[in-house]
Order: sequence, then structure tokens, then C-alpha cells
Amino acid sequence: MADLSGRKALVTGAAQGLGEGMARALAGAGAKVVVADLQQELGLKVAESLGDGHGFVPLNVADDANWEDAVSEATALLGGLDILVNNAGIEITSLLVDLDAGAAHKMLEVNLLGTALGIKHAFRTMRPGGPAGNGGVVINVASVAATIAFPAIGVYSATKSGIDRLTRVAAMESGRLGYGVRVNCIYPGLVPTAMGAGLASDCARIGLFGSPEEAVGAVVGLTPSGRLGAVEDMASAVVFLASDEASFINGVGLPVDGGMGM
Ligand SMILES: NC(=O)c1ccc[n+]([C@@H]2O[C@H](COP(=O)([O-])OP(=O)(O)OC[C@H]3O[C@@H](n4cnc5c(N)ncnc54)[C@H](O)[C@@H]3O)[C@@H](O)[C@H]2O)c1
Repeated sequence: MADLSGRKALVTGAAQGLGEGMARALAGAGAKVVVADLQQELGLKVAESLGDGHGFVPLNVADDANWEDAVSEATALLGGLDILVNNAGIEITSLLVDLDAGAAHKMLEVNLLGTALGIKHAFRTMRPGGPAGNGGVVINVASVAATIAFPAIGVYSATKSGIDRLTRVAAMESGRLGYGVRVNCIYPGLVPTAMGAGLASDCARIGLFGSPEEAVGAVVGLTPSGRLGAVEDMASAVVFLASDEASFINGVGLPVDGGMGM
């Protein structure tokens, strides 16, 4: 297990699901973690369960001013900031032929704008002269959806492909401008969190599969490792990318999908 003792991390969307798992794994590796989420009650509970020195900040990732407050609060609470995991995201299932513009806007705002704003505030805080000032690591959460063509997640997949490209430009800007921040992303495969299970049900409701179980079976059938992803699979990848073991890994997307997105 990588040693993240002394590191200070902010994880968005960490009140449940993959983000909660990432926060727990980072804390388990020795980092101090601030949980950031729209859901205050759940987020506080997760932060409290991590123990002393960890914390919670309310954050809507689609709101620039909110980011400013959350990052400065987290930096003050932790005494610095070295790791940002841009994990918060939403998925609203729809065939393109039935697309609702409001739902599409929401996904673009939370997934794509939210990640871009996270990079902005991480850079401002971690770059030399910033309130934290020691460089660091940003890990964005894209999706296997950025690497395959699965029906009914067109706009969601587009936001995740956008995160993939943002990651690479961010790594380049950080390098060119001497910020000392590595930026990578992961492409998780399907994990049966609230979002993952919801997608399977939506696919059945839309009529693409006979049942949610059939939808899950189709995903597993496309996966060489022959199973769904687990929260811990994504959390371990984040801990690795945050660690010094990954110090020369920069501007990449790491598939954590059992081979589905080949
Ligand atoms: N579960 C999967 O199968 C899967 C696969 C690939 C990628 N992902 C990605 O992983 C990330 C986490 O997914 P999950 O399965 O844990 O989802 P989830 O729905 O279980 O949890 C998402 C969390 O993000 C928070 N959130 C939503 N909008 C927010 C906002 N505007 N500001 C702050 N927080 C917000 C929610 O409150 C929730 O706590 C997402 O980016 C998702 O797209 C998930």
C-alpha cells in the first residue's frame, strides 16, 4: 500500500459511492481528507467516520464561487492541499432521440464544468505562491463510457470524453507553467453504486435489455475480467495515482474496467 502520510486531500462527491471509497482509501494510506459534497448530512457522517483531522465542506462543483470557498476552507482545515480528486458526477440516462436539453445541461455543468473548475482552483492553490504552494496531484474521474459506445448514455459519455481531454490539457499547462501538479484521470468500469445500479435499471426501462440483470450481464460479458468493478478497485487506483510511485505518470487516462474498454 502506498504511503500518503502527511498528504492533504480533497475528494468531491465523497458522501457516498466511489468518492466515499476513495476518501476512505486515501485516509487509510495516511492522508488527511476533506469530504466535499452537495449532501451535507451524509458527507459529514463520512468525514466523522474517518476520524480526527479529517473534515467536510459543502460543495456544488458546478459553482465557481462555491469552489473558491470550499478549497480555501479545506486548505485551512488541513493546513495545505496536495491531492484533489474530481469525482462528483451525475448520469441521466436517455436515448439521444429523447434527449432533454435541461438534463444535458446538468450533466455538462456537473461533470465537465465541475471538473474544469476543480482543476482551476487546485492549480491556484497548489502552484508556487498559492496558499498551499507545494504542487500536487489532480485525479479526474472519467469513465469507461469515454472509451466505448454504449447506448443511452450519449451526453454522459461526451462529458467523460471531455474530462479525458481536459486532463491532458491541464497536465500540459501545469508543466509549461511550472505548477508542479500532475493531472491524470481514471476510466472506471461499471460499479453497482447508486449510479451504476440506476443505469442498469434505466437501460431495462428504456427497453434496451429485458431486465437490469440482463443489462449487467451484457456489461460483464464485454469485460475480460468477467465481473463488475468494485468501489475498492477505483479507490486503489486513486491512491496509486496520488502516490510517489506514480510520480512520472502525468496526463494519462488509466482504465480501471477489467478490460471492457479495450
Ligand atoms: N458507478 C459507476 O458505474 C461509474 C462508472 C464510471 C464512472 N463513474 C463516475 O464515478 C463518479 C462517482 O460515481 P458514483 O457511482 O459514486 O455515483 P453516486 O451517484 O453514487 O455518487 C455521486 C456523489 O456525487 C455527489 N454529487 C452529485 N452532484 C454533485 C455536485 N454538483 N457537487 C458536489 N457533489 C455532487 C452526490 O451527492 C454523490 O454523493 C462519477 O463521476 C461517475 O460518473 C461511475
